[in-house]
Amino acid sequence: MDIATLSATAEALVAPGKGILAADESSGTIKKRFDSISTESTESNRRDYREMLFTAKGIAEYISGVILFDETIRQTAADGTLLVKLLEDQGIIPGIKVDIGAKPLALSEGETVTEGLDGLRERLAEYRGLGARFAKWRATYSISDALPSADCIDVNAHALARYAALCQEADIVPIVEPEVLMDGDHTIERSFQVTSDVLDALYEALYVQRVRLDGTLLKPNMVLSGYGASQQATVEEVAEATVRCFRATVPSAVPGIVFLSGGQSDESATAHLNAMAAMKGLAWPLTFSYSRALQNPALNTWRGQAGNVGAAQKAFAHRAHMNALACQGKWRPELERQAA
Ligand code: 13P
Repeated sequence: MDIATLSATAEALVAPGKGILAADESSGTIKKRFDSISTESTESNRRDYREMLFTAKGIAEYISGVILFDETIRQTAADGTLLVKLLEDQGIIPGIKVDIGAKPLALSEGETVTEGLDGLRERLAEYRGLGARFAKWRATYSISDALPSADCIDVNAHALARYAALCQEADIVPIVEPEVLMDGDHTIERSFQVTSDVLDALYEALYVQRVRLDGTLLKPNMVLSGYGASQQATVEEVAEATVRCFRATVPSAVPGIVFLSGGQSDESATAHLNAMAAMKGLAWPLTFSYSRALQNPALNTWRGQAGNVGAAQKAFAHRAHMNALACQGKWRPELERQAA
């Protein structure tokens, strides 16, 4: 393990005014996204869509790294250039999703454990050869009166730590992503408690398994009210609860926190990030690692039509710009209106 390289990569991913594009939708997820715009999920459509995102003018100013899916890291653009090279030539760091998904957790109704450890050492070596310098593994936790169980928190922390250790051995920065899902009608206090429990277990497992925290990044959920809750916390309440949660659980050795958007509206994801990044005395840079909240307007503008590529690229560059401002606490709602 070369910790100097790992921490330099982690720091580059959270450089001021930049964040990550998650473009690592699995085959099932990208099909769902394409279904929503009545576009068939073929290999060439997936390539065209991602090539459109990666070649949007000016995005290297806002995007530090892109998380790719297995198919995409091997794919070439229409002109035969590897998509990875298109990113590298702009100074954007290629990353790779390496988990193979959240699968039902045995003997635990309604819960999942993320799989993908078998053969991971060999897959990481191959991905390193294909250009990946960081990786992602996502665990998910549902909230109900009884969930998540202690068992679910424990097994997912253990798997996240095993993944992270293997990544570091391969000189790949592990992004650890424990996502507490916000479906349900729970309060923000309950989100706070569950997120705290999940992060406590995660950092304990990382410590036990000798993972160097200065060569990792955390990709967490924000602490929100359940999407179905009748009373929704304000932007200020979300920012305060999320930062308070991390101050109590995330060691300051972690080089940065890169949020997932988790189904929030595009503008909420930006507003929440902005309110947090504007706070004083934070121990880590805070930025975005969004999929939906960066891509939604571009996807809906593109609709699978070559003629819409330019407009879709503008829509994507706009969201990237707004979030790049937000991670510096410099975003204002008027900036959205001005651009519209
Ligand atoms: P969302 O921003 O759409 O939640 O996706 C982030 C991600 O990479 C999930 O693993």
